[in-house]
Formats: sequence, structure tokens, C-alpha cells
Amino acid sequence: MSAQETNDNVEAQVQALLAQMSLEEKVGQMTQIDFSVVSVVNGEVADNPIDQAKLEDAILNRHIGSILNTPTTPNNQTQPIEKWRRMTQAIREVAAKSRLKIPVLYGIDAIHGATYTENAVLFPQAISMAATFNPDLAFKEGAVTAREVKASGLDWNFMPVMDIGRQPLWPRLWETYGEDVHLAVTMGSAYIHGHQGEDFADADKAPTCLKHYVGYSYPLNGKDRTPAWIGERALREYFLPGFEAGVKAGSPTVMINSAEVDGIPGHVNHHYLNTILRDEMGFKGSTVSDWADISRLYTRDKLAASPREAVKMAVMAGVDMSMVPFDYSFYDLLLDLAKTGEVPMTRIDEAVTRILRVKYQSGLFDRREPDLAVAGNFVTEEAVAANRQAAREAIILAKNDQHILPLKKQASILVTGPTANLLSVMNGGWTITWQGAAEHLYPKDKPTLLQALQQKTSGKVTYVGGKNFSDEINIEQAVTQARQHDVVILALGEKTYTETEGNLESLHLDPVQLQLARAIFEIGKPVILVTFGGRPRIITEIANKAQAVVLGFLPGMEGGAALADILFGDTNPSGKLPISYPRDTNDIVMYDHKPIEAFESNQYRPLYPFGHGLSYTTFQTSDLRLNKDSIAMGENIDVTVKVKNTGALTGKETVMVYLHDVAASVSRPVKQLKAFKKVELKPGAEQTLQFSLTPQDMSFIGVDMKRIVEPGEFEVMVGSETARFQVAKP
Ligand code: NOJ
Repeated sequence: MSAQETNDNVEAQVQALLAQMSLEEKVGQMTQIDFSVVSVVNGEVADNPIDQAKLEDAILNRHIGSILNTPTTPNNQTQPIEKWRRMTQAIREVAAKSRLKIPVLYGIDAIHGATYTENAVLFPQAISMAATFNPDLAFKEGAVTAREVKASGLDWNFMPVMDIGRQPLWPRLWETYGEDVHLAVTMGSAYIHGHQGEDFADADKAPTCLKHYVGYSYPLNGKDRTPAWIGERALREYFLPGFEAGVKAGSPTVMINSAEVDGIPGHVNHHYLNTILRDEMGFKGSTVSDWADISRLYTRDKLAASPREAVKMAVMAGVDMSMVPFDYSFYDLLLDLAKTGEVPMTRIDEAVTRILRVKYQSGLFDRREPDLAVAGNFVTEEAVAANRQAAREAIILAKNDQHILPLKKQASILVTGPTANLLSVMNGGWTITWQGAAEHLYPKDKPTLLQALQQKTSGKVTYVGGKNFSDEINIEQAVTQARQHDVVILALGEKTYTETEGNLESLHLDPVQLQLARAIFEIGKPVILVTFGGRPRIITEIANKAQAVVLGFLPGMEGGAALADILFGDTNPSGKLPISYPRDTNDIVMYDHKPIEAFESNQYRPLYPFGHGLSYTTFQTSDLRLNKDSIAMGENIDVTVKVKNTGALTGKETVMVYLHDVAASVSRPVKQLKAFKKVELKPGAEQTLQFSLTPQDMSFIGVDMKRIVEPGEFEVMVGSETARFQVAKP
């Protein structure tokens, strides 16, 4: 069942339960605490980290409705699957002893697989999933994640991130599906469908959470949790569609923007949380605050004069559940506010109804133990294969002069640079720990790039580099070794991070990496630049000198193997950029820019444009045709185009269909992606692809903030061809 089409049975059960609940029980349902509140001190070392007395106090006395995270806050830490099952079982058993036996909803950030379960299948992060342009892979990722989350005894996943990534400094850019709305909507929806299936009460399915509603991803200064200035038109045009699509795909929960838009913190934005989310989008599920964000209305934003007022403001604005997370302050304050009538019972009942609805829809009341066995559901061969395929399709070949790639297996290779021999740099934050940097906890059977190259080569592979990201690399030794090898693989990029800890002052690479690169280039050996990391750090100088450039972003646990497959030609690359890769730190222009951004001396000239990505074969699109020259208002236009593999190898190509509204009452982007298809073609093979562009595709947010289609000329662009059609006046 989709969360938005709740049935009579669920509603009847929710109402019957609500009628029996005390005020305390209701307020408890609205409270979410961190695991540390119910764990023994030093929970990280204990085999059973639960403090039974604290757990019983939380559930039986405070009636809390939800728990999140792992035993080792603040950095969290992965746990063995059996331990997770025991921990969540202990929670279920206490909940079963409570007066009304309301199950606790356990939430986790399983953002690229079951991130906090040891050895789980960890996919490429969202930015890399977007680079695959393959929604089937996003669907599979969702399905594998839900299965492994459920096998771990967990209930609820704080994913997908439906924020749009148009601010490359932002330290969570990589948690998004990139800069384009259509791509993000397509990939995010596919992920939700895979994760939730037809009915997220099914044993191997689980509810998702759309985050971070809304505008979180666009901080003006690039720092995490700082203000965005987004006008209503831009909000509706760029930032809301991902959430609209997520609601339509059936996601039952929404997490709120931790920062603020246009002076209003997300957690008090009644307009966003009610008028837009519920009245316009038809969302029926529950909202959850982000971390400590209700209290921050007082401690940080100074919107509330006291913690008590902060609770009142947020609840009245439409926050249903508070991720408190470390104490019962929210519970105590809301109880008091409800007793004095400052927060009316109608509002409490509304919030609790929504939370209970999600619990019923998720099937929590029907099961009192983990839904799934571990055997057959955790790290299956099929899941690992899907992950490997996703990593292969995520990696982007940006440059390949004189066909230096693929390398011959007998080539002698020097590998150097800080990202060559680490798994963390390919996985990013929310991997094993919150910041993802605990390299020693990473699986031993997953190869780094260096190890994967060593496994495949029949030649000589030498490594000059450290064991950690920050280890100094002996440049002199790297240069000496470079002279003795055919080719240098220079692996640069970023160490792992997320949230505020990843804030940056500049997109430039660390100067030491530049120094290493310059020294290597001096000797004139061919260099293959490989980058890993969550943001497009500036590589222009190095990329210009390198013979080949491979952009890895965050390809996940199979990233090393997949990259070696590509470098040696066992896989033909097919990844495409889901963002515009900037040429310089202040050259931040998106591909779907306005005409004024490419007028007179202004230009869109990124290092690599959105959608760029090479293959070891070549493709040609041709014969772009529309079924009509002119359509009536409200009609679709059908597009056909041929795509041919004109090279000598089998490969995959993504054909992208862009649309441009030639003249409009509001300035329109020079082009916008409206459809794409990825096809595999043998050498010489040709396929005709069909697309249908809908009135929604032709629409925009008009002068009066309503979505409209204006009559007039449109251009459809595929490859180097353009075709025109008219929308007739009604
Ligand atoms: C804060 C992050 O902003 C959010 O993405 C995450 O889901 C919560 N913390 C819970 O860990």
C-alpha cells in the first residue's frame, strides 16, 4: 500500500487505539530518542549495550514512540547483524509489555545500504547512483537496502535525500542525486519503489523518509545548516518536485530541513509543512524533526524565547515527531503545553494519528520479532552483483586522449595519491560510522583501487603513498618510481565527511595533492587522473595535463573493483555527470542556467558539462523526429531518435532529451532534461528510441506562482540535433 492511500482498516485501527490512549502515551509517541538514552555507558564495547532499566523507563514510563541510531553516539558504529537483532528484539519485548503494546519505530540512516550493519552491501552514494542514469539500479539498491535493514531487525530508513544538489560547496552534495530535477525525481522514485514495493508492510520492505524538506541543500554560503534564500518560484521549480515525486511514490515520512529558508527555520514553517506538503501534495504520513532542531529554535535561531516555546512553535507548525534526541525535555514540555491547552488536543491527536498510521502501514503491530531471517536475505550473491554493476555504471570517464585507456594488463603502473589505497574515500559519510572515516573497521575482503589493480594485473604495479589520507607522500620517491613505469595512476580527491564536519572554505584541492601532481607531470610520463570524493574539487590544471580523467565520486564498496574493471577494459564505462563539473571555484553555473548566465561575457563553460561521460566505443544519435509540428494545449508530443554504436565495442549509452521553451513570461532555462533512456548496443547496432513529452514537461511556474503551459514555440534537443514544435493557443 502506498502511504498516501491508507485504507479503512488502518484508519479504524488507528482511531480505536487513539481512543484508548492517555495524554502521556500520546506525547510519548511523538518523542524520538537516540539509542544512547537506553544504553549502558560505553555501550560500544558491550555485547548487550542495552540498559534494561533505562529501556523500560523510556518505553513504559515515557511511552516513547521511536528510537534512532547505534550504540556509540556521536559517531555511531556498525554492529553485527545478530547483535542488531538482539537489540531491537529487546526493544520489541519491552514495547509488548506496555499497556497498549504499541511498537517502537526504529529509524536508521541506511543511506547507501544498511550502513550500520557489519558487512552489509553498501552501494554507490546517491551522487554516483545518479551518474548511472539507470533507475533499475536505484530500484535494486532500494530493494537490497530494505531487505538488509529488515534482516537487521530495523524498521525505518532515513532515505532518500530528495534535496537538489546545486551548491557544490555543500558538504552533503553527494547525498543528493545531483543538480537536475528530472534525474533526481527519476532516481529517487525508483529507489522508493524498490525499498517499499507494493506494500511496505511486506517482510522484505520498509518505509522510507524523504529529506530534508525543503531547501536544505541550497545554503547561500555553502556551509551546512546555514540559510538558503529561495524564492517561491525557484522553490516550486527546483526544490519541491523531488518531494512531490516522493510523496507520489508512497513515502510515508518526511524529515524537516535543519536550517532555514528566507528567514524561516524549517521547523516552524507552517506554510511548507501544511499548505504545500499536505494541502497541495496530499501527504498523509508523519513528519519528523531533524537532530535537536526543535530545541535549536531556542538555542540557535532565537525564534523562541524558551525551550518550552520552541516545542510549542514546532508542534503547532506541523512537526509530528521530535528527534530530541538525548533526553525527555520534549516529552516533559509538550505534556505541560497540552495540559495547559497551549497545544490543543486536536493537534496532538492529529500528530499521533499520523505516527500510528505509519506504524500500522509498516506492519509493526503484526510482528513481534524481526521480519526476516538473516540467511538468504543478507549479502546475497544477487545483491553483491547489483552493487558491482551499479559501481561500474557510476564511474565517469571524462577524458581519454589517444585512447590511453583501457590499459593493457601487462602494463607497468605506478599508483600514487591519497585516495588510491583506502575504502573510506570511495564510500563517504554514513559508512560504518557517521563520518565514514574509520578505515580499520572496513571489510577486509573489499579491494581498494590499488588492491583491485594488483589483483588484475599481469604486469608490475608499484604503490607510493601512505596508509591514511593525511599521510605525507614521498614526492621524490613517487617521481623516481614514475620514471620506471609505463604509466602513472594518480588518485586524488577528498577524505570522507558529512554534515557540518565537511564544511569547506574552497573547492580547491589540498595544495599537497597539487604539488604531487605537478612533480609527476614534470617527467612527462602518461598520467591517468582518478578522483574520489563527494564534491567536484577543482582539478582543471591536472585534468588538462593528464591523458585520461576518471571521476569516481563515491562508488561504494565495489568501487575499487569496478574502477579496475574500467581501467583494464573489462567494463566499458557508461557513467555520466549528474552535475556540472566546475572549472574554477567561483565558476558555479548549472547546465539548466538562464539565458542571462550565458550572455555577453557570461558563459557556461564548466570543466565538464552535466551529462558528460565517455565510452570506449562511440555513439551517434540521429533522425530526431517529432510526431507533430503543432499540438493543442494539453497534448503530448512524441519524440523519436535513433542511436547507433559507431565504434568497435559493445557499450551502454544514455540518450537525453532536453526541452527549451523559446519565449515565456518568466525567464526559462536554456534547456532542461525531460527524459532519458540508457541502452546497451553491440558494435554497429542501432535502435530507435521513443519518448513522450507531457504538458507537465512543458510547464513552468508562472508569474502568479501557478504551474502553467504557455502557447508558443518549443525546441527539443537530442545530441547535436534540434526539432521544433508549437503549442497552439487554446
Ligand atoms: C541529521 C541529518 O541531517 C539527517 O540526514 C539524519 O537522518 C539525522 N541526523 C539522523 O541521523
